[in-house]
Amino acid sequence: MSAPKKLFVKTYGCQMNVYDSERMVGALGTAGYEQVQDPAEADMILLNTCHIREKAAEKVYSELGRMRPLKDAKPDLKIGVAGCVAQAEGAEIMRRQPMVDLVVGPQAYHRLPAMEAKVQAGETALDTDFPEEDKFDHLPAPRGPKASRAPTAFLTVQEGCDKFCAFCVVPYTRGAEVSRPGARLLAEARDLVERGVADITLLGQNVNGYHGAGIDGDWTLARLIRELAKIDGLERIRYTTSHPNDMTDDLIDAHGEVEKLMPYLHLPVQSGSDAVLAGMNRRHTAEEYLRLIERIRAARPDIAMSGDFIVGFPGETEADFADTIALCEEVRYASAFSFKYSARPGTPAAGRTFVGDDVASERLGRLQALITDHQRSFQRAQVGKRMSLLVEKAGREPGQMIGKTPWLHAAHFDGPQTTQGNVVEVEIIGSNTNSLSARAI
Ligand code: SAH
Ligand code: SF4
Ligand code: F3S
Repeated sequence: MSAPKKLFVKTYGCQMNVYDSERMVGALGTAGYEQVQDPAEADMILLNTCHIREKAAEKVYSELGRMRPLKDAKPDLKIGVAGCVAQAEGAEIMRRQPMVDLVVGPQAYHRLPAMEAKVQAGETALDTDFPEEDKFDHLPAPRGPKASRAPTAFLTVQEGCDKFCAFCVVPYTRGAEVSRPGARLLAEARDLVERGVADITLLGQNVNGYHGAGIDGDWTLARLIRELAKIDGLERIRYTTSHPNDMTDDLIDAHGEVEKLMPYLHLPVQSGSDAVLAGMNRRHTAEEYLRLIERIRAARPDIAMSGDFIVGFPGETEADFADTIALCEEVRYASAFSFKYSARPGTPAAGRTFVGDDVASERLGRLQALITDHQRSFQRAQVGKRMSLLVEKAGREPGQMIGKTPWLHAAHFDGPQTTQGNVVEVEIIGSNTNSLSARAI
């Protein structure tokens, strides 16, 4: 057998791209590739890209520019672009950067081995179809020894989005909502647990809209979570990202009843102004969102909220922005992401008048200061509490291990290497800039 060819993958964007990159490594593994960490060693470089904001998309072209010398030094090097920029721009990428050999959209990854063969034959390959067949049926999970894997993993359960928020490219780059069958997801989760995974994050662009074929009729996300919770050795379940309008009663109940479902929920609202929410096509009001959080907190009082905000959406006035600040004050997020609005080609909001970069930057600064303040006080409030920690790896100091709390804080404690991959009970004894200190009990 010939020596394996070497594949370097760089991943941008959301967690789904992280999951997809692993699958592409698996798919190209069947074509004789092994993954390397240094692009200079590679026979093929794949960029798994994100199109969500203009800056994210432009990064791809600057990265391709940086790869020029590698291609000059090794003319056989193949360069591929995958992900949401590939889907959105297609052949345009090869026009702008002729050294790109392969462009593959998110729904065509199972066709990568055939595309690779074409590229090896000296042709270019482009596939941005939304094929009928289920790509997941043909995408092997990467195999590896148990010890080499982190105890956390992503599992894509749903892909695509039918919501069409006025600012967002995802419905165009990922296509219509598709849910994977429950039985397959249970099998994949069991397989992950056998390989040492204890914490699974279920992924979907609109994950709480999940409605997959179950073993006894259609399953909701809540039902899927209840079935997953029966797997021995799976200790923690999370899911992301959710839309407020799909936060159904059975899912809220699950937060109160399923112990393995972690008390942390990413539920983006984007704005606290009803006028802006309407302009964004979010289809709910700020008040409805706040009442929803009240119900979730009633079911699970220790739940921490996380969210996303867009600042400077077309039409946003100072009064609208004040509503966003007020909503943020009321929710007090444990963590939240906020972004300056970026007009995306082909989306409904793209033609509307932007508030201007100076206004948006200034508002973003104010919102981020508030979020950081809440985030820090939430972190400090952990001190003195007892909680479980999923131990992920050795810390920087000798004898130190690092794990994650149920609320996604990193915490370090003195403990043996043998705790790696296990859940241990700790008391939080200190709060530092980016982590907590803990003591095993
Ligand atoms: N599926 C997720 C969204 C994925 S995009 C959801 O429905 O919440 C992640 C975040 O990027 C969004 O929540 C939004 O806050 C931000 N975002 C999306 N499009 C954007 C745009 N055009 N400009 C700025 N931020 C954007
Ligand atoms: Fe984009 Fe809205 Fe769909 Fe989220 S719900 S992926 S923001 S269109
Ligand atoms: Fe980006 Fe596509 Fe994810 S646009 S955020 S990589 S779905």
